Amino acid sequence: MIRREVLSLIRRAEAGADLGRDELAFLLSLEGEEQKALFGAADRVRARTMGDGVHLRGLIEFSNICRMDCCYCGIRRSNRHVRRYRMAPEEIVAAAQGASRLGYGSVVLQSGEGDALDPEELAGVVRQIKATTPLAVTLSVGERTREEYALWREAGADRFLLRHETADPELFARLRPGRRLEQRVQCLLWLRELGYQVGSGFMVGLPGQTVETIADDILLLRKLNVEMAGIGPFIPAPNTPLADAAAGTVDRTLNAVACTRLTLQDAHLPATTALGSIHPRGRQLALACGANVIMPNVTPGRYRDHYQLYPNKICLREEPEHCAPCVTALILGEGRFVATGPGHSPRWTS
Ligand code: SAM
Ligand code: SF4
Ligand code: FES
Repeated sequence: MIRREVLSLIRRAEAGADLGRDELAFLLSLEGEEQKALFGAADRVRARTMGDGVHLRGLIEFSNICRMDCCYCGIRRSNRHVRRYRMAPEEIVAAAQGASRLGYGSVVLQSGEGDALDPEELAGVVRQIKATTPLAVTLSVGERTREEYALWREAGADRFLLRHETADPELFARLRPGRRLEQRVQCLLWLRELGYQVGSGFMVGLPGQTVETIADDILLLRKLNVEMAGIGPFIPAPNTPLADAAAGTVDRTLNAVACTRLTLQDAHLPATTALGSIHPRGRQLALACGANVIMPNVTPGRYRDHYQLYPNKICLREEPEHCAPCVTALILGEGRFVATGPGHSPRWTS
């Protein structure tokens, strides 16, 4: 049985109405048949605005060296059990060229925060990838100065991913010692001013988070008008302060993806690796309720063990050439197809 008020709320959201905090919090709590109706609406919006193609972004985790101590993260500075690495610039460029050969239209260069590569070196890597491949380049290297963001943008970087993590300022300050939400939002505003396609996002199930907080997360994404939003479950990592906390659930994460699709109708939304790591069909489930992107790992296999943000991460034993056919089969199995080209935001191309 689907309550009449639920149906009418879902219909309004599907038609593009801006829902308020309480309405989003209500949708985020739906279960059973009502949850299915929410997913159906999100899937229709995704088909209408983004089509049936699923974009692949090859993820290169080029260094796990980090100056930050985020309480949720397995590679936080204080975790002495992690063997630190940095890939050489030429190795990063080679990994990107490999991703291009595998048919991917873009790569994401991700690392801990800090100078694993100095800013000039990273700019050189971006320049070389842009000069030798047709790839769109996304960076995900944390909170940096406006000058650094400008340098990489001038070098040719197209996009930047910086999840806001949680829109609750107190929770943010507790989980990211020494940093404030305000500063992270400032970074997102700089990235926007500099002409990047901007991605943000958040974790679902952080200790202390409520459905109202998640509604605020979605409203912040709407306010920032992001082109991309990564939404994944929090997964407790060993040797961190949150090792014994509960993980985010599949259902709550899917509800958050669906509500984000209804709110940001033309944004790219990945079916996240974290969701695929807590449920064998997590990425497929996300593709069916609003997601339209997958980020297969193209980090050389020998580094993967050392970039465990959380335990039981998928693809730890695989090489890039194993993940490519796997994600293709996954996408075709859902009745979708692999999109070609760089997969820019529709706002950029139209
Ligand atoms: N250091 C950069 C930053 O923090 O923006 C980029 C890399 S960071 C490892 C990428 C993302 O991993 C973070 O934005 C966070 O949302 C996610 N993450 C970290 N620890 C996690 C955990 N235990 N469970 C789920 N996601 C996690
Ligand atoms: Fe560093 Fe990013 Fe992990 Fe925080 S989430 S500890 S900034 S790698
Ligand atoms: Fe890596 Fe399936 S995506 S093995």
